[in-house]
Amino acid sequence: MTLNYLEDQYCRNSLFIKEEYFEVNYLPDQIIHREQELIMLSKIFIKLIETPFQISRKVMIHGDVGIGKTAIARTFGRMLLLSAKKRNIKIEYVHINCRIEKSNFKILVQVLRKLNCPVPIRGFSPQDLITMLKDYLKDKNIYLVLVLDELNHIQNFNSNFDIIYSLTRMNDTENRKNFLSLIVIVRDITLLRNLDESTISTLQGSILTLKKYTNKQIVDILNIRINKGLKKGIIAESDVQLIAEKISDSGDIRKGLNIIRNAVKITEFKGKIHISSDELQLAFKNLIPSLQDDALSILTYHMTLLLYVITILLLERKEKRVIFSDIQKKYEEICFQYKETPRKSTQIWNNLQSLKNYSLINIKTISKNVKGRKSYCSINSIPINILNEELNQKIRNFLSSR
Ligand SMILES: Nc1ncnc2c1ncn2[C@@H]1O[C@H](COP(=O)(O)OP(=O)(O)O)[C@@H](O)[C@H]1O
Ligand SMILES: [Mg+2]
Repeated sequence: MTLNYLEDQYCRNSLFIKEEYFEVNYLPDQIIHREQELIMLSKIFIKLIETPFQISRKVMIHGDVGIGKTAIARTFGRMLLLSAKKRNIKIEYVHINCRIEKSNFKILVQVLRKLNCPVPIRGFSPQDLITMLKDYLKDKNIYLVLVLDELNHIQNFNSNFDIIYSLTRMNDTENRKNFLSLIVIVRDITLLRNLDESTISTLQGSILTLKKYTNKQIVDILNIRINKGLKKGIIAESDVQLIAEKISDSGDIRKGLNIIRNAVKITEFKGKIHISSDELQLAFKNLIPSLQDDALSILTYHMTLLLYVITILLLERKEKRVIFSDIQKKYEEICFQYKETPRKSTQIWNNLQSLKNYSLINIKTISKNVKGRKSYCSINSIPINILNEELNQKIRNFLSSR
């Protein structure tokens, strides 16, 4: 039979139906085991639907990492918008992550942008932006439900401008009309100690404390993602239980999602179709493998050698990164060993850049001055020993076909 590489590629299907389903930011249609919390939020906010613009609520959601704080806020937002739309009430839900928008200014600019309000770039203080927001909401008759997620990341939390205080005071209007409710999300409630008294009392209205999930609940939540995101039969139910046990101390669902995603990637990488305990153990050990299916097959021989050299150095030294000069030295040794003429510095550098472009390595250049530049390479993902074995095999194949 004639070889047809296109057919080969076509048959190399992924084990994922959709890898995005394993991303932390992906919001599933179904949030389970948080029904009580969603009911409580609905009770707190029902007046927004019954008597729009009459009330202003402040809610705080808190609990450990990865236990669904963001997910329940966004799910509730989805419900709220549906109910508002049904009754022609103009409610907007804006979710800001303060780890990304770190300053009061950036947060407010982002809120205005999400509301499609034109924002001047410079020359305005946060207080000006608050005024702008208030005028905009009044003018357009919009009610805003604003979520400030990961609030503890605001950098100038203790500055003289208190964003929470200012936002919640926005509602004191002549017509007794309210335009804003606030949901803040924090991991650690002790953060409140840094806030001033009035802000604390503002926020203490309703506090929603999320408890850790039980093992059984973790299994249920992971299974929903597995059923949606993976082809049938790739992971055994007993392995899902193992993963749940592994993460049960923290209860952090995102760790579970990462483990599954890694295990699948390692399984694909090995050309298998079921996750076995080997792959699971490897997945437990590391985080995000970036090794893409075909990244290795498109490498030239010298790129393969270079990457191989990096894995050797990292494994030998048990270090996280290696410096360019050491890579070059080792590469020359290996070339000598395999009777290859080593490439020159510039070409080595270009090859490293290609490896970086294929997401196989990271390069970090630290420069004190132009002459004193130092570049380090690292591999942040796939178990390096697997990669090393695979590269070794490729090099042997190459040598034997020469
Ligand atoms: N009850 C749940 N049902 C379904 N998925 C959940 C649930 N709780 C958490 N998740 C998922 O777990 C991941 C982490 O949740 P997230 O809301 O980001 O945690 P937190 O904000 O508390 O750190 C997200 O991908 C989220 O969709
Ligand atoms: Mg979150």
